[in-house]
Amino acid sequence: MKTVITYGTFDLFHIGHVNLLKRARSLGDRLVVAVSTDEFNERKSKISLVPYEHRAAIVESCRYVDLVIPENDWTQKKIDIVTHNVDFFVIGDDWKGKFDDLSEYCEVVYLERTENISSTAMREAILVFTQLGKDLI
Ligand code: CTP
Repeated sequence: MKTVITYGTFDLFHIGHVNLLKRARSLGDRLVVAVSTDEFNERKSKISLVPYEHRAAIVESCRYVDLVIPENDWTQKKIDIVTHNVDFFVIGDDWKGKFDDLSEYCEVVYLERTENISSTAMREAILVFTQLGKDLI
């Protein structure tokens, strides 16, 4: 039984997230996803439109995901890897090289991001459409 773990905010769940989770799960038999809490995002100065409880429930409902845990801080990864008996730590290649130190505990895999989509771009699009809508009224 090979266990894979990945981390992220997963705001406005999109096809880039699906592709990442599908490929992560295909590396093993069980996928654990650590979803960043709202408090952790606030400390990272990262905005998410969808609250943690909803983001966690959405990620949990994805067929490739076996377990969702909260990501509360930067330092928990080593503990998670040991606690959940993790074989592969997986993350998008926007983080390439950033987590190489975890290779002491498991295999570290950076997956290519899906092009032309991100939660940031979607938040910006919502902002533009909201503004356009206001102008039309
Ligand atoms: N991801 C991906 N392809 C994308 C967007 C995200 O493979 N187009 C991956 C990230 O590399 C990460 C995971 O999905 O491993 C969760 O990423 P997250 O930061 O939640 O998604 P983003 O859309 O990048 O969010 P933001 O724009 O807020 O940074």
